[in-house]
Amino acid sequence: MGKNIAIDGPAGAGKSTIARKVAAALSYIYVDTGAMYRAMALFLIEKGISPDDSASISACCDQADISIEYIDGEQAVILNGRNVNAFLRTEEVGNMASKSSVNPDVRAKMSALQKKIGREKDVVMDGRDIGTVVLPDAPCKIYLTASVEVRAQRRYKELQAKGVEADLSVIAAEIAERDHRDMTREHAPLKQAEDAVLVDSSYMTIDQVTDRILAVYHEKVG
Ligand code: DC
Repeated sequence: MGKNIAIDGPAGAGKSTIARKVAAALSYIYVDTGAMYRAMALFLIEKGISPDDSASISACCDQADISIEYIDGEQAVILNGRNVNAFLRTEEVGNMASKSSVNPDVRAKMSALQKKIGREKDVVMDGRDIGTVVLPDAPCKIYLTASVEVRAQRRYKELQAKGVEADLSVIAAEIAERDHRDMTREHAPLKQAEDAVLVDSSYMTIDQVTDRILAVYHEKVG
């Protein structure tokens, strides 16, 4: 096990942006575990499986071969031989990922893969259960959060920049619903690990959050 960094937190707290910058600063590999759950969700959507049909979701675990590769330093998720990165970032896939990730067979499959990567390389890994389940021995754990209002505003601005019509109150309600599901599920719910450092990014810039996490890393790891 290397000097891994585990970053957990709710959707929209800025985990992937920050984790990518921290990884670049330390020449570590960035592992986006949400993208793996999203690839599983994409497989289920393409198969027409309902998020409530847990028996079929469990049965699909053996049919979906998911792995990650690095292309020009960026993580690519490979689903049954196909690079699916371009299809993972929709609301539909995100919501299906939040629902299907409650399934214990999906979680067992993903966490085994993620633990293996953490054993082989020095990583900055982000997700919901990294500090608690996937990398419990990581010397540096961060719980990165922000208020629902701030996260909804960020998402709203992202959609506006892309020219997509959006309603701020609907986005805020969806974020709150996703938080609730991720935090109250039976298996590996999102929660702050006892030894994680809490960072609230609501009123911090990206650079301030990155510097704070690097400072925690140097304090813990040297
Ligand atoms: O971080 P994200 O929005 O891409 O994650 C999509 C969903 O995947 C999230 O709502 C819950 C699930 N997930 C998980 O259960 N455990 C992880 N380590 C990462 C993501």
